[in-house]
Amino acid sequence: MAAGLMAGFGHYTHAVVRGIPTSLASEALRSIQAEVDVAKARREHDAYIHALRTTLGLQVVELPADETMPDCVFVEDAAVVCGDTALITRPGAESRRRETEAMKAALKELNLNVVEMTDESATLDGGDVLFTGREFFVGLSKRTNQRGAEILADAFKDYAVSTVPVVEGLHLKSFCSMGGPGLIVIGSSEPAQKALKIMQQMSDHRYDKLTVPDDLAANCIYMNLPNKGHVLLHCTPEEFPESAKVFEKLKDHMLIPLSNMEKVKVDGALTCCSVLLNKKVDN
Ligand code: GLY
Repeated sequence: MAAGLMAGFGHYTHAVVRGIPTSLASEALRSIQAEVDVAKARREHDAYIHALRTTLGLQVVELPADETMPDCVFVEDAAVVCGDTALITRPGAESRRRETEAMKAALKELNLNVVEMTDESATLDGGDVLFTGREFFVGLSKRTNQRGAEILADAFKDYAVSTVPVVEGLHLKSFCSMGGPGLIVIGSSEPAQKALKIMQQMSDHRYDKLTVPDDLAANCIYMNLPNKGHVLLHCTPEEFPESAKVFEKLKDHMLIPLSNMEKVKVDGALTCCSVLLNKKVDN
């Protein structure tokens, strides 16, 4: 493993987010039927954007909501950014494919090297992509296939890419995420623990793990920011009391609990709602 691949892990300067269309309530894809309060979802999303922009000082690019794309707030699925390369994905759900257009334009505007997944046999959702700072794990799920993972490996040649079967939940990151350099946050369900075991077996690196009782709470956002240090955006005690207690024990992190009760009803987790990038020089 090349030294220094972890340097800068979690450093971000910009976030791309998108508004919530009213159509989210009735038309967004979902695995369970639940009534969504759009006004509440928008309040949650405003708090999320406030944390990124005001609390953490990131430059936030806000794309407008599009009523014809009910899932468009879940921008993470449309692009994978690492360094100055952005892979525009080919989302697994056909109804979501057009979401990539506005993302592509925004990332070009930010002067990233944009690579497109044009192979029509490939599918990949960013929610299936876990970047650890050393390597990528790609979940093979209902939304992401082997060809999608191969194209991601071509786009990010500096890093190893391993695939992990996702047998339950929507995406790989529906039950895991990074909580710090070398620290994987993982849910405690059997499928989540099994997936972690596979990731550990496939890696040369020994990751630490932080297990939380609720799979959905394992989706959090780690950053390492100047003047802030380690930052973790995570679930609230109202949503997942037992998992929140686990995060509250992290003494080295600036902790930012964020409510996600409405978006989770349509399978949206915290990472789903932004694409984070680190632009070294403003240009
Ligand atoms: N509602 C998020 C998705 O199913 O893609």
